[in-house]
Amino acid sequence: MPLFERENDEFRADLRSQALSVVAIDNHFVDGVYDKLASVYDVIFGPILHPGRLLALEKIGIRRGDRVLEVGVGTGINASLYPRHCHVTGIDFSNPMLDKARARIIKKGLSHIRLMQMDAAALQFPDNSFDVVYAPYLVNCVPDPIKVVQEMRRVCRPGGKIVILNHFRSTSPVMSRLDRALSPLTVHIGFKSDLDLPEFLAQAELRPVLVQKISMPPLWSLVICNK
Ligand SMILES: C[S@@+](CC[C@H](N)C(=O)[O-])C[C@H]1O[C@@H](n2cnc3c(N)ncnc32)[C@H](O)[C@@H]1O
Repeated sequence: MPLFERENDEFRADLRSQALSVVAIDNHFVDGVYDKLASVYDVIFGPILHPGRLLALEKIGIRRGDRVLEVGVGTGINASLYPRHCHVTGIDFSNPMLDKARARIIKKGLSHIRLMQMDAAALQFPDNSFDVVYAPYLVNCVPDPIKVVQEMRRVCRPGGKIVILNHFRSTSPVMSRLDRALSPLTVHIGFKSDLDLPEFLAQAELRPVLVQKISMPPLWSLVICNK
């Protein structure tokens, strides 16, 4: 490919990525952050993110025998929320986070949950493997949220659900500027605060059947799509 065409492609990719967030990160950076956070994650991000986790499970409505993929399972904080009549696979990049999750599922005897170390942007599952593909508090942690959603869609069966729970850039002009200004800082505690929801949905070609704000505090949104 001629050099100027490649430069144009790279320029367009940069513009798309900047429309999503002002922060650019790589897996090595994210891994380093979560390796450090693993021992304190449940204390810092446990209670504050829990109303969203409960609402998501209620709205998903997991059915008997459903195959559920949790992308970015972390310390397994959602593990005991899944009904025992489904089969859950939890994947995460960070081994220290997964160690916590392993200890939790052994302690609680959660035999319907299996854990695997994997990059969300390169899922090692065949197409159409799951009925529900759920990413709680993940898409603003990863370098390329669009690639992650493409992978989530690929492994979800036709008619299955793709579910995203996340903080997105505020729609209020003042708060939106704050989200953008803070994002280079929040990324050091594990997330970009300025991921733009309309841009994310457009680039990921997602058409949600539900977008609902978590009531208190109203900083997070639940997005449910059918494949
Ligand atoms: C904010 S935590 C969410 C944990 C959990 N889902 C929850 O509800 O609290 C984000 C998790 O995503 C993981 N993660 C970040 N980038 C990833 C990637 N590329 N592939 C897989 N997991 C990733 C991190 O290691 C971390 O455990």
